[in-house]
Amino acid sequence: TINKKVDSLLAIMTIEEKVGQMNQYNGFWNVTGPTPSEGGAAKKYEHLKKGYVGSMLNVRGVEEVRAVQKIAVEETRLGIPLIIGFDVIHGYETLSPIPLAEAASWDLDAIKKSAAIAAKESAAAGINWTFAPMVDISRDARWGRVMEGAGEDPYLGSKIAVARVQGFQGDDLASPNTIAACAKHFAGYGFAESGRDYNTVDVGTSTLNNIIFPPFKAAAEAGVKTFMNAFNELNGVPATGNAYLQRDILKSKWNYDGFVVSDWGSLNEMIAHGFAANKKEVAELAVKAGSDMDMESYAYVEELANLVKEGKVDEALINDAVKRILRVKYELGLFDDPYKYCDESREKAVIGSKENNDAVLDVAKKSIVLLKNEGNVLPLKKEGQNIALIGALANDKTSPLGSWRIAAKDSTAVSVLEGIQNYKGNTISYAKGADVTIGKGEFAIELNINTTDKSGFSKAIATAKNADVVVMVLGEHGFQSGEGRSRSELGLPGVQQELLEAVYKVNKNIVLVLNNGRPLTINWADAHVPAILEAWQLGTQSGHAIAQVLYGDYNPSGKLPMTFPKSVGQVPIYYNYKNTGRPKLPAPDEVFWSHYTDQSNAPLYPFGYGLSYTSFAYSNLNVQVVSKNEVQVSVDLKNTGKVTGKEVVQLYIRDLFASVTRPVKELKGFEMVELDAGASKTIHFVLTEKELGFYDNEGHFIIEPGKFNVFVGGSSNTNLEANFDLE
Ligand code: IFM
Repeated sequence: TINKKVDSLLAIMTIEEKVGQMNQYNGFWNVTGPTPSEGGAAKKYEHLKKGYVGSMLNVRGVEEVRAVQKIAVEETRLGIPLIIGFDVIHGYETLSPIPLAEAASWDLDAIKKSAAIAAKESAAAGINWTFAPMVDISRDARWGRVMEGAGEDPYLGSKIAVARVQGFQGDDLASPNTIAACAKHFAGYGFAESGRDYNTVDVGTSTLNNIIFPPFKAAAEAGVKTFMNAFNELNGVPATGNAYLQRDILKSKWNYDGFVVSDWGSLNEMIAHGFAANKKEVAELAVKAGSDMDMESYAYVEELANLVKEGKVDEALINDAVKRILRVKYELGLFDDPYKYCDESREKAVIGSKENNDAVLDVAKKSIVLLKNEGNVLPLKKEGQNIALIGALANDKTSPLGSWRIAAKDSTAVSVLEGIQNYKGNTISYAKGADVTIGKGEFAIELNINTTDKSGFSKAIATAKNADVVVMVLGEHGFQSGEGRSRSELGLPGVQQELLEAVYKVNKNIVLVLNNGRPLTINWADAHVPAILEAWQLGTQSGHAIAQVLYGDYNPSGKLPMTFPKSVGQVPIYYNYKNTGRPKLPAPDEVFWSHYTDQSNAPLYPFGYGLSYTSFAYSNLNVQVVSKNEVQVSVDLKNTGKVTGKEVVQLYIRDLFASVTRPVKELKGFEMVELDAGASKTIHFVLTEKELGFYDNEGHFIIEPGKFNVFVGGSSNTNLEANFDLE
């Protein structure tokens, strides 16, 4: 019936009104002020009143949303409601951990719940469409936007993509608590050369099909309502004007019936790319390539109707795009009640509620990864300890919110200092030591200028000297990762490394708590500091989550979703690499093999790695081939330590010989298992054709007979191995 409604509406629309649905504007009007009367804002206002705007982004809060919606519904000829988009990336005002951190939880239920909370809060603020999840796979920690994705692996990335889509959209898109999701950025954005944002992407078909596409395909199959294309070019064709991506793959091969929004101004950027000469060409190329909605390029609204009238663009393409957009609006229930997201009392009750804070605390704890714990420095004793807390990030209430948190207010995160002050049995002495950067605020250029000021060192050293334990919270400020925040060095920014070494000279009993939006090269810390906790940017409840893990009230269970390199020269570094023809030559020839002369090939911490306050032992790995669609794998897991703990049991395969070479390991299954001390459990996996096959260079999914290895363990560097043959 929705299709029928869409068709009858389309039948009465003028070409200008149709094109209007394909036009998206950024918020331009503070509704408590006067209506815009000049400049760009006035033009947008006029367009809104004529029905030449189908969507707006960055309009938020019930009052603002109602005001723009009222114009669309009550003043335009057809009264078609707007769809209101917003970057609800890891929450609205109550923030979950940054998505990379959440991925470290490997806990699909917690991730789904976190997206559902984000949907509920943003829906209460008038929003009905998020530009999330970002499902770009990336192997490059230099790229600032790795913080926004699920890391390096297509299997884990696909599962998380689905969990997030389900969390945002729920079972019923028409519910007032769910919003439409958007799989972005289609495609290849995470493979920017040199990790520099917006840079050229040139990848082969094997990587495209086996690594980049799977999370997008999974999101499409999970019913994600929209896709966003990307700023980058892919193999010479900008994603926004790329018919292969949007028409051949997405809309034909995957049969996708949602709509594709461009990235901000990405239509016009095709001119700078050297792909289109002017705005008219931009509009023609983008619509033909399958971009359905233009975000802030003004190309469709200014050019498309004329292109149709001149016969350069077939109106059928416009009709198709408009149908896709209207369908989502109908599914959201906007035609039944355009103000269904505009309820002030709900807005007040839902935003920042206890339920939301409890949910983000839960996923924050689960996102922490214990990287090192020599001599069981952790968990901290709860009483009688003098604890020195050092580092600017230890007392920062903004940085833990991370990047992409437009609606959250500064200084609303629980700091580590506040978190550990909750535990009253110890004495805490705090010293900042040194700032991370000299800048403040999201867009401060100085955020990238590291401070050189060491005037706080002496106080930090004095504080550390007589402490029983030193907790140092170091890393990146929340805005040092994210869009446009690529880095060429991956160490601790500024003078933090020097601070760490200076403190270590007077007290070696250090727990390093890392706050960061990407893998870092922390070799010195790994070699010297006894305990390291990867705590990313954990959102609103950050300090409570960190304190609970430090004190053992939550036993860490996170596993890295991205490889930590030893040096920047190793990047891109990832666990599912290819073997090469020269993985290692037998001695005495130690030169002519695939390696560095000044660094090992091994990462600092591999994908899937993470410790616990207990220990786990794996045994009895068994494989039984029932058919090529049913390979049964089982393994025994025992908690060999003293406390209850959770382990992410990971299964990897290697297809030893194939018509297109396969990686040395590929994640193909995982399960989160909780065991009491001393308890054991047998874990079962079933591998089907879906896990055993791969895409050939023509993009066909194939499964080839032959020898396979299967590995199971608590990290990608497990060597518990079994073999099987596929007929
Ligand atoms: O959703 C984002 C996108 O990821 C990057 N450019 C701007 C968009 C809208 O804010």
